[in-house]
Amino acid sequence: MSDTQNSRRNFLALSAAAPAALTLSGAASAQTSKAGEGTLPGTGRAAIVTGSSRGIGAATAKRLAKDGFAVTINYLTSADLAAQVVRDIVAAGGRAIAHQADVADPAAVKALFDANDKAFGGVDVVISNAGIMNVAPFAQMTDEAFHRMMLTNMRGSFNVLREAARRTRDGGRIITLSSTSVRARRATHGAYAASKAAQEAYAGCLAKELAGRRISVNAVAPGPTNTRLLDVPAPLRAQAAQMTPYGRIGEPEDVANAIAALCLSDGEWINGQLVFANGGFF
Ligand SMILES: NC(=O)c1ccc[n+]([C@@H]2O[C@H](COP(=O)([O-])OP(=O)(O)OC[C@H]3O[C@@H](n4cnc5c(N)ncnc54)[C@H](OP(=O)(O)O)[C@@H]3O)[C@@H](O)[C@H]2O)c1
Repeated sequence: MSDTQNSRRNFLALSAAAPAALTLSGAASAQTSKAGEGTLPGTGRAAIVTGSSRGIGAATAKRLAKDGFAVTINYLTSADLAAQVVRDIVAAGGRAIAHQADVADPAAVKALFDANDKAFGGVDVVISNAGIMNVAPFAQMTDEAFHRMMLTNMRGSFNVLREAARRTRDGGRIITLSSTSVRARRATHGAYAASKAAQEAYAGCLAKELAGRRISVNAVAPGPTNTRLLDVPAPLRAQAAQMTPYGRIGEPEDVANAIAALCLSDGEWINGQLVFANGGFF
């Protein structure tokens, strides 16, 4: 038998075996959904948003809290900002806690989920949002900048998604943040775009692994968004605005609204996808 025939036979055998294996390692019994049944009301549910002391994460945490979710805010160093996000949510009638954890550390990620479970009894929505952007031409990128970015974006998000795969309750949602940079292929963005391309692979594969549990997993790719991460001079921001049909770059709330749309009732059928939330940026 040729190599090609062999790999095709192996692939078919794996595909046939996968659903049973996945059901055994996942929920006790597989759940199917009927059309129009995909409701995930926020009330009584909990969400973990990594990197939610500021920027897109903070806006997402506030939006999910408004939709009724109890929210665990995560940060690396900005304890004051995270505490302010908690205060804002509580002042608006929501429930939130803040928990410091470096997503690059698997034990810290586990402790983050433990803190959420202790406060809210379990998790229904996980947003793997924490990320950093170090950009430089290949010739000038330092080992340290490359390593830290991969630790945070690639390994860190893996740590979060692995814990989410183990602990998200059936019927939940898992979202990881990619970037329009993956498609834009900008000079200086090679390593950053690679770390974000990983999110697209993670989402597509994890969506299949969670078969039978009614958990949708997607990657959301913002375009240029007005946060501290977008550390570029005003002329470049203006240029980016011109590349968007709305004539402006995104605000964190624009992306948060798109994420919330996937999390709430009608989002269930969007699964294993890459969703661009970039206002049409090209
Ligand atoms: N802004 C954009 O134009 C844009 C475009 C495409 C994609 N994205 C993606 O969207 C996500 C959010 O970006 P943003 O613009 O909102 O960034 P941001 O304003 O810089 O906020 C980053 C957040 O991540 C947290 N964080 C960083 N490293 C962490 C770590 N190791 N462990 C835990 N938390 C960590 C930060 O916490 P501290 O405050 O404690 O440092 C902060 O809360 C990122 O994944 C980014 O790649 C952004």
